Order: sequence, then C-alpha cells, then structure tokens
Amino acid sequence: MAKSDPKPSATNHAAPPPCAMVIFGASGDLTKRKLLPALYNVATSKLLPEKFAVVGFAFDDMDTDQFRDTLTKEIKEFAGETIDPKRWNELFAKRLYYVKGDFTDAKSYATLAKTLAQVDEECGTSGNYLFYLATPPSFFGKIVDQLGAAGLTNEEKPTEKEDDKKKKSKSSQAGWRRVIIEKPFGHDVESAKALNREITKVLREDQIYRIDHYLGKDTVQNIMVFRFANGLFEPTWNRRYVDHVQITVSETVGVEHRGLYYDKAGALRDMVANHISQLLALICMESPISFDAEAVRDEKAKVLRAIHPLSEEDVLRHCVRGQYAAGTVQGKEVPAYRGSPNVPEDSNTETFVALKMMVDNWRWAGVPFYIRTGKCLPTRVTEIAIQFKQVPLILFRETPVESLSPNQLILQIQPDEGISLRFEAKTPGFGIETKPVTMEFHYEQAFGTTPITGYETLLYGAMQGDATLFLRADFVEMAWQFLQPILDIWGTLPARKFPNYAAGTWGPAGADDLMTADGRTWRNP
Ligand code: BG6
Repeated sequence: MAKSDPKPSATNHAAPPPCAMVIFGASGDLTKRKLLPALYNVATSKLLPEKFAVVGFAFDDMDTDQFRDTLTKEIKEFAGETIDPKRWNELFAKRLYYVKGDFTDAKSYATLAKTLAQVDEECGTSGNYLFYLATPPSFFGKIVDQLGAAGLTNEEKPTEKEDDKKKKSKSSQAGWRRVIIEKPFGHDVESAKALNREITKVLREDQIYRIDHYLGKDTVQNIMVFRFANGLFEPTWNRRYVDHVQITVSETVGVEHRGLYYDKAGALRDMVANHISQLLALICMESPISFDAEAVRDEKAKVLRAIHPLSEEDVLRHCVRGQYAAGTVQGKEVPAYRGSPNVPEDSNTETFVALKMMVDNWRWAGVPFYIRTGKCLPTRVTEIAIQFKQVPLILFRETPVESLSPNQLILQIQPDEGISLRFEAKTPGFGIETKPVTMEFHYEQAFGTTPITGYETLLYGAMQGDATLFLRADFVEMAWQFLQPILDIWGTLPARKFPNYAAGTWGPAGADDLMTADGRTWRNP
C-alpha cells in the first residue's frame, strides 16, 4: 500500500467555522516546530476553515511582514520535508499577523483587539477566536485576566437592544472565544487548583482547552476504539483475567537545552501528572455512554478518583526515582544530568520514575499497575503491556513443557505504532513443545500512513468546539492529588544516591526490585 501524507483523514469531517488563532509566545519553539506545521497539515487535508488567520503575539520586536518572513524561513528549517513552499505561501504566509506585546500590559491587549478587528475585516474570521497560550506557565493566569479585561473572552452576542450600527459592525460582534493552555497545569495540587480558580474567574470551563499532546496521537485514541469497538477483548479486560499492567514511556533523549524548566519539574511532574495519567485512564475507564466530550471525560475522571491513595509507606516502597549519570545511549556518549546546561551540579531532580499503583474499583481491584518513565534510557518506546493470568494448569504431562509464557497484549503507542498479542504455539515436529509467538498489527502496514504529530487533531477539535481530547479541571486536580504524597515525601527526603543509573540503561536497580518483589519483571522492549 502506498504511503500517504502525514495528515488527518478527512473522512466524515467538515472544516470548522471561520476563526483566528492567536498564539501567545509565537516566537517560541512550539510555534515553528509543532503548531504551524500542524496547521499546515490540517489545511492540506482541507480541514482548516477557509476563512482563517494566525495572529502571533510576543515580545520580540517585529512587524507582520517580518513575522511572515521569519516563519516562512523557520518552517523550512523545522518541517522542511513535509511542507511545500508554494502551498505554504498560498495557504499561510498571507494569513499571518503579528502583535508585539507584553503579556501583562493592558495596552498590548488593546492593540491585539484592534488587530483582531482588522483580521475579521480582512480574513472574514467572524469574531471567533482561539487563543493558544504557548508561554511559560507563570503567564497563564495573567494572560487570561488581560484577555478578560479587554473583553476578548466575552462570547455574548449583541442583544436586540443594542444599536443597529453596533450589530452591523463585524468587529464588535463576538463569536466564540476559546483558550488552549499548554501544560504544566500547576506543579502540585494547590497550584493546579489555584490556576483553575484563577482562569475560571474569566472563562467558563467549556471555553478552556487544556492540551496534552498524547491525546492527539492516533494510537492513544485507538485505545478506546480497540476496547470499545471490538467484542473480543473487553470481556477479558478486568481483574479476572489480567495479572498486571505495565506502562512504559522511555526516552533516549536527555534533558538537552530544557534544564531551566526540567530541573524544577522532574519526571513525575513532566510525564506522570499528564501523559501517563491519560494512558492509565484510557486503559482503566468504563465504557462511556457515548463519545461525547463530557461522557468520555466523566469516565476518565472516575478512574483517577479510584486510584488507591499512597501512604508514606507506599511511597517509600513502591515509588522509585532515578537520575542519569554519564553513559552511552545507542552508541552515543551522553554526559550526566547534573551539570547539563542550567542544571545545578548537586541537582536532586529525578529523570526516572517507576511506580506501583492500584485502582480501587470493581474491575481492577487487586491488579497492580506498574508505571515507568525516564530520560536517557536504551530505547525510545511508549507502550502499554497487559499481562494476562497464567493458565490454571500446565496440561502437557509427559511432555517437555514445564512453563508457559503468559499471554501479553502490547499496545505500542510509539514509535512502531501497533498492537501485538503474544500467545503460545506448538513448535513444528513430533511431540509437544511450545514457544511464544506473536500476532501483530502495524499501523503503517495496515493503513499506509505516517503518524501525525497529534497537534493536528487537537487544533481541529478545539476549532470545532469538541473538548473530548482535552483535560477537564477535575482530571488535572485529581492527577496531582494522587501524586501529591510522592511530591511531599521526595521533597522532604532528597535522594541520597543520585545519580543512580547510567545513561543507556533501564534506570536504577530499585525499579527492577519493585517488580521482583512481586515475582514479576519489566518487559524491556
Ligand atoms: C513532553 C515532555 O510533554 O513530552 C518532554 O515535557 C517529553 O520531556 C515529551 O520528552 C515526550 O513526548 P513524545 O511525544 O516525544 O513522547
């Protein structure tokens, strides 16, 4: 099958209504690496509104022409292979605008409002605005406040009583107003609650789109499809058949140039509070009554509510942290985390986490979930391994069969997207001997598509007003709630033996001990 372009399928989808997308922090990495390439992919799939514009808002001294030139150059550098310069010029260059502004200065928002009115006139964007906060988290609340004060989050339509002149002026006619917020949504329970309180003073919850790019990955969305669109697996998806579940998100990259952010965050906040909690919720949730945003998000929230709260003893016994020392990752020498740019020589920040946790509900009671994630591990892989219980009896008496490998279902999220099922088979020849074999499904082989970055689906969803793939306030707060005991104890008891794993290995010995204590082992892909 021929490979197709990396873009979302247009089947059964319509282009969203006209709108302008305002990117706060538009001169940063996210815009050129992800957002613009994703918008381009949506446009080539004919799923971008015909009447559309991007307004960049940042502190850099530029005007609209310079912004257009800069992005046109950068897009070649960062997404060169996938972008056709001619189409880029047709589709985008002329629809880019720029506002130089200060995130905290009311005057900048007055300029933004003026620019948006101009954009509405020139591009027909009808007063529908999607604000994307690609800024450091300390600005989230302030930007939302300022947007509110400038009247830019106000969705009220002019009433009958308002004068005709005002009603006719497109620029004063407010359409929908939505705000996309990038993680981190706080750094613990209290700060997450405070952020939610602050932004909901200005916005209704249904105007807030908290983004987690994992939810835009096809393979992550496929977890629900796999579970709820197939009759075969769901009946076994519970404590009666499942022995345990392993979720691994391993990365080969180190902290690179992100020391300033990462050293304050660490692996628990950076990966578990968001991406891994999402994977866990999708694996554990009950079937929603529909694929409607609230129905899906209700079921996901229930999973987090059911996570067994960690006691101090649980944290000490079942939560393992690690930090990489110098080593070799895939043949390349890697320096230690300590001393990386903007990382203190005595940093106690974890770059690896392994946890055991339980979900206290009818379906999952007694089934352990083992989670691990880390930087500078031997291979890049995100996968969920469902290990089924052993058969009750090894039937092959008077044969050499002494042990059987339990069935394992692997949901491979990336990079080799697919699903595989391991089962025992008879080897060819006389007598009975068995060996584990696999049945495999590979996305690329089956559909001939290269997976998209994820931002395409999410931006499209936000423009359509579909919040299914975005995080609701309660989910965010509950994820922090579950992690809070770990944060508290690790905060008071700094790690004693950091660094404790060499770059290029599967983390500290404690991660293996966590499994061996339960008579299990990690699946090291
Ligand atoms: C980000 C984290 O949210 O996700 C990074 O901040 C991490 O530290 C990245 O590398 C992983 O995303 P992906 O899509 O490469 O698995």
